[in-house]
Amino acid sequence: MRKKIIIHASELVTCAGKAPKCGREMSEIGLIRDGAVVIDGDTIAETGKTEDVLKKVNPKEYDIIDASGKTVLPGFVDSHTHFIFGGDRADEFSWRLKGDSYMSIMERGGGINATVTKTREASLEELVSVGRERLDQMLRFGVTTVEGKSGYGLDRDTELKQLYAMRQLQREHPIDIVTTFLGPHSVLPEYKGREREFLEKMISEVMPAVREEHLAEFADIFCEKNVFSIEDSRYYLTEAKKMGFRLKIHADEMAPLGGAELAAEVGCVSADHLLQATGEGIQAMAKSGVISTLLPATAFCLKEEFANGRKMIDEGCAVAIASDWNPGSCFTNSIPLLAALGCIYMNLSIEEVITALTINGAAAVGREEQIGSIEKGKKADIIFLRFPSIHFIPYHTGINLVEKVMKNGEFV
Ligand code: NIG
Ligand code: FE
Repeated sequence: MRKKIIIHASELVTCAGKAPKCGREMSEIGLIRDGAVVIDGDTIAETGKTEDVLKKVNPKEYDIIDASGKTVLPGFVDSHTHFIFGGDRADEFSWRLKGDSYMSIMERGGGINATVTKTREASLEELVSVGRERLDQMLRFGVTTVEGKSGYGLDRDTELKQLYAMRQLQREHPIDIVTTFLGPHSVLPEYKGREREFLEKMISEVMPAVREEHLAEFADIFCEKNVFSIEDSRYYLTEAKKMGFRLKIHADEMAPLGGAELAAEVGCVSADHLLQATGEGIQAMAKSGVISTLLPATAFCLKEEFANGRKMIDEGCAVAIASDWNPGSCFTNSIPLLAALGCIYMNLSIEEVITALTINGAAAVGREEQIGSIEKGKKADIIFLRFPSIHFIPYHTGINLVEKVMKNGEFV
Protein backbone atom coordinates (compact mmCIF):
# COMPACT_ATOMS: atom_id res chain seq x y z
CA MET A 1 0.00 0.00 0.00
CA ARG A 2 1.42 3.42 -0.98
CA LYS A 3 1.71 5.95 1.78
CA LYS A 4 -0.94 8.69 1.81
CA ILE A 5 -1.06 12.27 2.90
CA ILE A 6 -4.21 14.27 3.48
CA ILE A 7 -3.50 17.98 3.04
CA HIS A 8 -5.30 21.31 3.39
CA ALA A 9 -8.19 20.05 5.49
CA SER A 10 -10.16 23.16 6.21
CA GLU A 11 -10.62 21.85 9.76
CA LEU A 12 -8.79 18.78 10.99
CA VAL A 13 -10.33 17.52 14.23
CA THR A 14 -7.82 15.29 16.00
CA CYS A 15 -9.47 14.62 19.39
CA ALA A 16 -5.89 13.86 20.43
CA GLY A 17 -4.62 13.58 23.99
CA LYS A 18 -6.11 12.06 27.08
CA ALA A 19 -8.79 9.39 26.66
CA PRO A 20 -11.54 9.34 27.65
CA LYS A 21 -12.12 13.05 28.00
CA CYS A 22 -13.97 14.01 31.17
CA GLY A 23 -15.95 17.13 31.98
CA ARG A 24 -14.35 20.25 30.53
CA GLU A 25 -11.78 18.23 28.59
CA MET A 26 -14.63 17.21 26.29
CA SER A 27 -14.42 20.65 24.64
CA GLU A 28 -10.78 20.11 23.67
CA ILE A 29 -11.03 18.55 20.22
CA GLY A 30 -7.56 19.49 18.97
CA LEU A 31 -8.77 21.40 15.94
CA ILE A 32 -6.12 22.28 13.35
CA ARG A 33 -6.93 24.65 10.49
CA ASP A 34 -5.33 23.76 7.15
CA GLY A 35 -4.49 20.40 8.65
CA ALA A 36 -2.60 17.41 7.28
CA VAL A 37 -2.43 13.72 8.16
CA VAL A 38 0.28 11.30 7.06
CA ILE A 39 -0.85 7.68 6.75
CA ASP A 40 1.47 4.71 6.49
CA GLY A 41 -0.40 1.51 5.72
CA ASP A 42 -3.29 1.31 8.16
CA THR A 43 -1.74 3.67 10.70
CA ILE A 44 -1.50 7.40 11.26
CA ALA A 45 2.14 8.52 11.13
CA GLU A 46 1.92 12.27 11.62
CA THR A 47 -0.52 15.15 11.97
CA GLY A 48 -0.14 18.91 11.96
CA LYS A 49 -0.50 22.02 9.87
CA THR A 50 -0.14 21.25 6.16
CA GLU A 51 2.76 23.64 5.83
CA ASP A 52 4.71 22.02 8.65
CA VAL A 53 3.96 18.43 7.68
CA LEU A 54 4.94 19.01 4.03
CA LYS A 55 8.35 20.21 5.20
CA LYS A 56 9.01 16.86 6.81
CA VAL A 57 8.06 14.51 3.96
CA ASN A 58 8.85 14.02 0.28
CA PRO A 59 5.41 14.38 -1.36
CA LYS A 60 6.53 12.26 -4.34
CA GLU A 61 6.43 9.20 -2.13
CA TYR A 62 2.79 9.76 -1.24
CA ASP A 63 -0.69 9.60 -2.70
CA ILE A 64 -1.96 13.09 -2.04
CA ILE A 65 -5.54 13.61 -0.87
CA ASP A 66 -6.60 17.23 -1.08
CA ALA A 67 -9.17 17.99 1.61
CA SER A 68 -9.63 21.68 0.82
CA GLY A 69 -13.07 22.85 1.90
CA LYS A 70 -13.63 19.70 3.95
CA THR A 71 -13.77 18.88 7.64
CA VAL A 72 -11.71 15.82 8.54
CA LEU A 73 -12.62 13.86 11.68
CA PRO A 74 -11.91 10.54 13.37
CA GLY A 75 -14.40 7.86 12.27
CA PHE A 76 -17.47 7.78 14.50
CA VAL A 77 -17.74 5.02 17.11
CA ASP A 78 -21.32 3.90 17.69
CA SER A 79 -20.75 2.41 21.11
CA HIS A 80 -24.22 1.00 21.86
CA THR A 81 -26.37 -0.85 19.33
CA HIS A 82 -28.56 -3.93 19.03
CA PHE A 83 -28.21 -4.22 15.24
CA ILE A 84 -28.58 -8.01 14.89
CA PHE A 85 -32.22 -9.01 15.15
CA GLY A 86 -35.02 -10.66 13.17
CA GLY A 87 -38.26 -8.97 12.10
CA ASP A 88 -39.34 -5.45 12.99
CA ARG A 89 -41.77 -3.74 15.39
CA ALA A 90 -43.24 -1.03 13.20
CA ASP A 91 -46.69 -1.83 14.64
CA GLU A 92 -45.50 -0.95 18.16
CA PHE A 93 -44.23 2.40 16.97
CA SER A 94 -47.68 3.31 15.72
CA TRP A 95 -49.26 2.11 18.98
CA ARG A 96 -46.87 4.38 20.85
CA LEU A 97 -47.88 7.29 18.64
CA LYS A 98 -51.43 6.68 19.84
CA GLY A 99 -50.36 6.82 23.50
CA ASP A 100 -49.20 3.33 24.50
CA SER A 101 -46.00 3.27 26.52
CA TYR A 102 -42.91 1.19 25.78
CA MET A 103 -43.14 -0.60 29.13
CA SER A 104 -46.88 -1.35 28.84
CA ILE A 105 -46.32 -2.90 25.39
CA MET A 106 -43.50 -4.95 26.88
CA GLU A 107 -45.64 -6.09 29.80
CA ARG A 108 -48.35 -7.44 27.51
CA GLY A 109 -45.96 -9.59 25.51
CA GLY A 110 -44.70 -7.18 22.86
CA GLY A 111 -41.41 -5.37 23.07
CA ILE A 112 -38.16 -7.25 23.32
CA ASN A 113 -39.88 -10.63 23.66
CA ALA A 114 -41.59 -10.14 20.29
CA THR A 115 -38.19 -9.67 18.68
CA VAL A 116 -36.91 -12.73 20.55
CA THR A 117 -39.47 -14.85 18.70
CA LYS A 118 -38.44 -13.42 15.32
CA THR A 119 -34.73 -13.75 16.07
CA ARG A 120 -35.12 -17.36 17.14
CA GLU A 121 -36.89 -18.05 13.83
CA ALA A 122 -34.19 -16.36 11.71
CA SER A 123 -31.32 -18.43 10.33
CA LEU A 124 -27.70 -17.41 10.87
CA GLU A 125 -27.53 -16.47 7.18
CA GLU A 126 -30.57 -14.23 7.51
CA LEU A 127 -29.08 -12.45 10.51
CA VAL A 128 -25.79 -11.97 8.66
CA SER A 129 -27.63 -10.63 5.64
CA VAL A 130 -29.68 -8.02 7.53
CA GLY A 131 -26.64 -7.22 9.65
CA ARG A 132 -24.59 -6.54 6.52
CA GLU A 133 -27.17 -4.10 5.18
CA ARG A 134 -27.29 -2.31 8.51
CA LEU A 135 -23.50 -2.04 8.68
CA ASP A 136 -23.48 -0.57 5.16
CA GLN A 137 -25.97 2.00 6.36
CA MET A 138 -23.78 2.84 9.38
CA LEU A 139 -20.70 3.21 7.19
CA ARG A 140 -22.49 5.81 5.08
CA PHE A 141 -22.90 7.87 8.25
CA GLY A 142 -19.17 7.63 8.94
CA VAL A 143 -19.27 4.92 11.61
CA THR A 144 -16.03 2.92 11.51
CA THR A 145 -16.45 0.94 14.75
CA VAL A 146 -19.68 -0.32 16.25
CA GLU A 147 -20.64 -2.14 19.40
CA GLY A 148 -23.25 -4.86 18.86
CA LYS A 149 -25.19 -6.77 21.49
CA SER A 150 -26.87 -10.15 21.64
CA GLY A 151 -30.03 -10.24 23.74
CA TYR A 152 -32.76 -11.33 21.36
CA GLY A 153 -32.25 -15.02 22.03
CA LEU A 154 -32.53 -15.41 25.79
CA ASP A 155 -31.50 -19.02 25.17
CA ARG A 156 -28.12 -20.53 24.44
CA ASP A 157 -28.47 -21.26 20.76
CA THR A 158 -30.00 -17.96 19.71
CA GLU A 159 -27.67 -15.83 21.82
CA LEU A 160 -24.73 -17.65 20.22
CA LYS A 161 -26.32 -17.33 16.76
CA GLN A 162 -26.43 -13.54 17.14
CA LEU A 163 -22.78 -13.50 18.24
CA TYR A 164 -21.76 -15.82 15.37
CA ALA A 165 -23.48 -13.45 12.95
CA MET A 166 -21.37 -10.58 14.29
CA ARG A 167 -18.21 -12.65 14.12
CA GLN A 168 -18.86 -13.43 10.46
CA LEU A 169 -19.57 -9.76 9.73
CA GLN A 170 -16.39 -8.74 11.55
CA ARG A 171 -14.46 -10.92 9.10
CA GLU A 172 -16.11 -9.62 5.96
CA HIS A 173 -17.15 -6.00 6.61
CA PRO A 174 -14.87 -2.96 6.90
CA ILE A 175 -16.57 -1.77 10.10
CA ASP A 176 -15.01 -3.18 13.27
CA ILE A 177 -17.51 -4.79 15.62
CA VAL A 178 -17.06 -4.97 19.39
CA THR A 179 -19.44 -7.58 20.77
CA THR A 180 -21.43 -7.64 23.98
CA PHE A 181 -23.33 -10.51 25.57
CA LEU A 182 -26.74 -9.25 26.72
CA GLY A 183 -28.46 -12.51 27.71
CA PRO A 184 -30.40 -10.72 30.52
CA HIS A 185 -32.19 -8.33 28.18
CA SER A 186 -35.74 -9.30 29.09
CA VAL A 187 -37.70 -11.73 31.23
CA LEU A 188 -39.72 -14.34 29.35
CA PRO A 189 -43.19 -15.05 30.85
CA GLU A 190 -42.05 -18.48 32.07
CA TYR A 191 -39.32 -16.80 34.15
CA LYS A 192 -41.45 -14.05 35.67
CA GLY A 193 -40.71 -14.11 39.40
CA ARG A 194 -37.79 -16.48 38.80
CA GLU A 195 -35.36 -13.94 37.38
CA ARG A 196 -32.47 -15.22 39.50
CA GLU A 197 -32.94 -18.70 38.06
CA PHE A 198 -32.80 -17.28 34.54
CA LEU A 199 -29.58 -15.43 35.39
CA GLU A 200 -28.04 -18.59 36.83
CA LYS A 201 -28.88 -20.39 33.62
CA MET A 202 -27.25 -17.65 31.55
CA ILE A 203 -24.17 -17.71 33.80
CA SER A 204 -23.74 -21.46 33.88
CA GLU A 205 -24.93 -22.52 30.43
CA VAL A 206 -24.37 -19.68 28.01
CA MET A 207 -21.56 -17.45 29.23
CA PRO A 208 -18.90 -20.18 29.42
CA ALA A 209 -19.51 -20.94 25.74
CA VAL A 210 -19.34 -17.23 24.89
CA ARG A 211 -16.00 -16.96 26.72
CA GLU A 212 -14.54 -20.13 25.32
CA GLU A 213 -15.21 -19.12 21.74
CA HIS A 214 -14.22 -15.47 22.38
CA LEU A 215 -17.61 -14.35 21.11
CA ALA A 216 -18.02 -11.28 23.34
CA GLU A 217 -15.77 -8.93 25.27
CA PHE A 218 -18.48 -7.23 27.29
CA ALA A 219 -21.44 -8.41 29.36
CA ASP A 220 -24.50 -6.18 29.76
CA ILE A 221 -27.88 -6.37 31.53
CA PHE A 222 -31.18 -4.45 31.29
CA CYS A 223 -31.43 -3.20 34.88
CA GLU A 224 -34.93 -1.71 35.08
CA LYS A 225 -38.11 -1.71 37.12
CA ASN A 226 -40.07 -4.85 36.21
CA VAL A 227 -37.07 -6.29 34.34
CA PHE A 228 -33.86 -7.03 36.33
CA SER A 229 -33.51 -5.49 39.78
CA ILE A 230 -30.43 -3.86 41.23
CA GLU A 231 -29.73 -6.98 43.33
CA ASP A 232 -30.06 -9.29 40.32
CA SER A 233 -27.94 -6.96 38.21
CA ARG A 234 -25.24 -6.82 40.90
CA TYR A 235 -25.18 -10.61 41.06
CA TYR A 236 -24.98 -11.04 37.28
CA LEU A 237 -22.35 -8.36 36.71
CA THR A 238 -20.18 -9.67 39.55
CA GLU A 239 -20.28 -13.18 38.10
CA ALA A 240 -19.59 -11.88 34.60
CA LYS A 241 -16.57 -9.96 35.87
CA LYS A 242 -15.20 -13.10 37.53
CA MET A 243 -15.48 -14.83 34.15
CA GLY A 244 -13.37 -12.13 32.51
CA PHE A 245 -16.02 -10.00 30.85
CA ARG A 246 -15.79 -6.22 30.88
CA LEU A 247 -19.06 -4.69 32.00
CA LYS A 248 -21.83 -2.48 30.69
CA ILE A 249 -25.29 -1.81 32.06
CA HIS A 250 -28.60 -0.47 30.73
CA ALA A 251 -29.20 1.83 33.69
CA ASP A 252 -31.83 4.23 35.01
CA GLU A 253 -33.71 4.45 31.72
CA MET A 254 -37.35 4.54 32.84
CA ALA A 255 -37.01 4.52 36.65
CA PRO A 256 -34.25 5.82 38.94
CA LEU A 257 -33.28 2.43 40.37
CA GLY A 258 -29.66 3.31 41.12
CA GLY A 259 -28.10 1.70 38.06
CA ALA A 260 -25.50 4.46 37.75
CA GLU A 261 -24.39 3.87 41.35
CA LEU A 262 -24.24 0.13 40.72
CA ALA A 263 -22.11 0.72 37.61
CA ALA A 264 -19.63 2.63 39.77
CA GLU A 265 -19.71 -0.02 42.49
CA VAL A 266 -19.00 -3.01 40.23
CA GLY A 267 -16.63 -1.18 37.87
CA CYS A 268 -18.61 -0.99 34.62
CA VAL A 269 -16.79 0.53 31.66
CA SER A 270 -20.02 2.33 30.81
CA ALA A 271 -23.54 2.91 32.10
CA ASP A 272 -26.00 3.55 29.31
CA HIS A 273 -29.31 5.45 28.89
CA LEU A 274 -29.35 7.28 32.30
CA LEU A 275 -32.48 9.37 31.59
CA GLN A 276 -33.40 9.05 35.28
CA ALA A 277 -29.92 8.97 36.82
CA THR A 278 -29.86 10.78 40.15
CA GLY A 279 -27.38 13.42 41.28
CA GLU A 280 -25.66 10.79 43.43
CA GLY A 281 -25.50 8.43 40.47
CA ILE A 282 -23.89 11.10 38.31
CA GLN A 283 -21.32 11.87 40.99
CA ALA A 284 -20.56 8.19 41.46
CA MET A 285 -19.92 7.78 37.73
CA ALA A 286 -17.69 10.84 37.61
CA LYS A 287 -15.69 9.69 40.61
CA SER A 288 -15.17 6.12 39.49
CA GLY A 289 -14.58 6.87 35.79
CA VAL A 290 -17.65 5.07 34.44
CA ILE A 291 -18.44 6.42 30.98
CA SER A 292 -21.97 7.84 30.74
CA THR A 293 -23.29 6.64 27.40
CA LEU A 294 -26.26 8.70 26.30
CA LEU A 295 -28.73 7.52 23.67
CA PRO A 296 -30.73 10.63 22.79
CA ALA A 297 -32.48 9.13 19.75
CA THR A 298 -34.10 6.59 22.09
CA ALA A 299 -35.39 9.29 24.42
CA PHE A 300 -36.62 11.17 21.34
CA CYS A 301 -38.43 8.17 19.84
CA LEU A 302 -39.97 7.28 23.22
CA LYS A 303 -40.93 10.92 23.85
CA GLU A 304 -39.09 10.80 27.19
CA GLU A 305 -37.06 13.55 28.85
CA PHE A 306 -33.46 13.50 27.66
CA ALA A 307 -30.68 12.39 29.99
CA ASN A 308 -29.04 15.30 31.78
CA GLY A 309 -25.87 15.26 29.71
CA ARG A 310 -25.09 18.88 30.57
CA LYS A 311 -25.04 18.12 34.29
CA MET A 312 -22.98 14.98 33.71
CA ILE A 313 -20.29 16.93 31.87
CA ASP A 314 -20.41 19.78 34.39
CA GLU A 315 -19.90 17.23 37.17
CA GLY A 316 -16.86 15.79 35.40
CA CYS A 317 -18.25 12.68 33.70
CA ALA A 318 -16.90 11.30 30.44
CA VAL A 319 -19.96 11.27 28.17
CA ALA A 320 -20.31 9.14 25.04
CA ILE A 321 -23.24 9.34 22.63
CA ALA A 322 -24.50 6.33 20.70
CA SER A 323 -27.48 5.33 18.58
CA ASP A 324 -28.95 2.33 20.50
CA TRP A 325 -30.15 1.10 17.08
CA ASN A 326 -32.71 -1.60 17.84
CA PRO A 327 -36.11 -2.73 16.51
CA GLY A 328 -38.17 -1.29 19.38
CA SER A 329 -37.27 1.84 21.27
CA CYS A 330 -35.03 3.31 18.58
CA PHE A 331 -35.08 2.07 14.99
CA THR A 332 -32.56 4.61 13.74
CA ASN A 333 -28.81 4.82 13.38
CA SER A 334 -28.75 8.43 12.26
CA ILE A 335 -25.59 10.15 13.48
CA PRO A 336 -26.83 13.59 12.33
CA LEU A 337 -29.96 13.09 14.42
CA LEU A 338 -27.80 12.29 17.46
CA ALA A 339 -25.69 15.38 16.86
CA ALA A 340 -28.75 17.60 16.52
CA LEU A 341 -30.39 16.24 19.67
CA GLY A 342 -27.11 16.51 21.58
CA CYS A 343 -26.63 20.16 20.63
CA ILE A 344 -30.19 21.45 20.51
CA TYR A 345 -31.94 19.52 23.27
CA MET A 346 -29.17 18.37 25.59
CA ASN A 347 -27.28 21.67 25.54
CA LEU A 348 -23.95 20.15 24.59
CA SER A 349 -21.56 22.09 22.40
CA ILE A 350 -20.67 20.66 19.01
CA GLU A 351 -17.16 20.02 20.36
CA GLU A 352 -18.60 17.96 23.23
CA VAL A 353 -20.82 16.03 20.83
CA ILE A 354 -17.85 15.23 18.59
CA THR A 355 -15.84 13.97 21.58
CA ALA A 356 -18.82 11.87 22.65
CA LEU A 357 -19.09 10.27 19.20
CA THR A 358 -15.36 9.60 18.73
CA ILE A 359 -12.77 9.23 21.48
CA ASN A 360 -15.25 8.74 24.32
CA GLY A 361 -17.18 6.22 22.22
CA ALA A 362 -13.88 4.43 21.62
CA ALA A 363 -13.24 4.37 25.37
CA ALA A 364 -16.75 3.01 25.97
CA VAL A 365 -15.80 -0.03 23.88
CA GLY A 366 -12.31 -0.30 25.36
CA ARG A 367 -10.56 0.80 22.15
CA GLU A 368 -9.23 4.23 23.15
CA GLU A 369 -5.63 3.15 22.55
CA GLN A 370 -6.30 2.17 18.93
CA ILE A 371 -9.05 4.42 17.56
CA GLY A 372 -11.23 7.47 18.27
CA SER A 373 -8.67 10.16 17.49
CA ILE A 374 -6.39 11.22 14.65
CA GLU A 375 -2.96 10.94 16.21
CA LYS A 376 0.30 9.17 15.59
CA GLY A 377 0.12 5.42 16.07
CA LYS A 378 -3.65 5.11 15.84
CA LYS A 379 -5.55 3.30 13.11
CA ALA A 380 -6.31 5.52 10.12
CA ASP A 381 -10.11 5.56 10.55
CA ILE A 382 -10.89 8.97 9.11
CA ILE A 383 -13.99 10.64 7.69
CA PHE A 384 -14.38 13.61 5.37
CA LEU A 385 -17.35 15.98 5.59
CA ARG A 386 -18.42 17.96 2.53
CA PHE A 387 -18.42 21.25 4.47
CA PRO A 388 -15.47 23.25 5.79
CA SER A 389 -16.35 23.42 9.48
CA ILE A 390 -17.69 21.34 12.35
CA HIS A 391 -20.40 23.95 12.82
CA PHE A 392 -22.23 22.56 9.78
CA ILE A 393 -22.92 19.36 11.74
CA PRO A 394 -25.81 20.71 13.83
CA TYR A 395 -26.55 23.60 11.46
CA HIS A 396 -27.26 21.40 8.40
CA THR A 397 -29.68 19.64 10.70
CA GLY A 398 -30.30 15.96 10.22
CA ILE A 399 -28.35 15.81 6.97
CA ASN A 400 -25.61 13.27 6.40
CA LEU A 401 -22.50 15.33 5.65
CA VAL A 402 -20.12 12.39 5.29
CA GLU A 403 -18.57 12.33 1.85
CA LYS A 404 -15.79 9.78 2.19
CA VAL A 405 -14.81 7.19 4.78
CA MET A 406 -11.32 5.78 5.26
CA LYS A 407 -11.01 2.60 7.31
CA ASN A 408 -7.57 1.29 8.24
CA GLY A 409 -5.96 3.62 5.71
CA GLU A 410 -8.18 2.67 2.74
CA PHE A 411 -11.23 4.41 1.31
CA VAL A 412 -14.26 2.16 1.67
O1 NIG B 1 -31.50 -0.14 24.89
N1 NIG B 1 -33.83 -0.83 26.97
C1 NIG B 1 -33.58 -2.00 26.64
N2 NIG B 1 -33.08 -2.42 25.48
C2 NIG B 1 -33.10 -1.68 24.29
C3 NIG B 1 -34.41 -1.76 23.58
C4 NIG B 1 -34.56 -3.04 22.89
C5 NIG B 1 -35.86 -3.22 22.18
O2 NIG B 1 -36.85 -2.51 22.42
O3 NIG B 1 -35.89 -4.14 21.35
C6 NIG B 1 -32.64 -0.27 24.54
O4 NIG B 1 -33.39 0.69 24.37
FE1 FE C 1 -29.77 -0.62 24.38
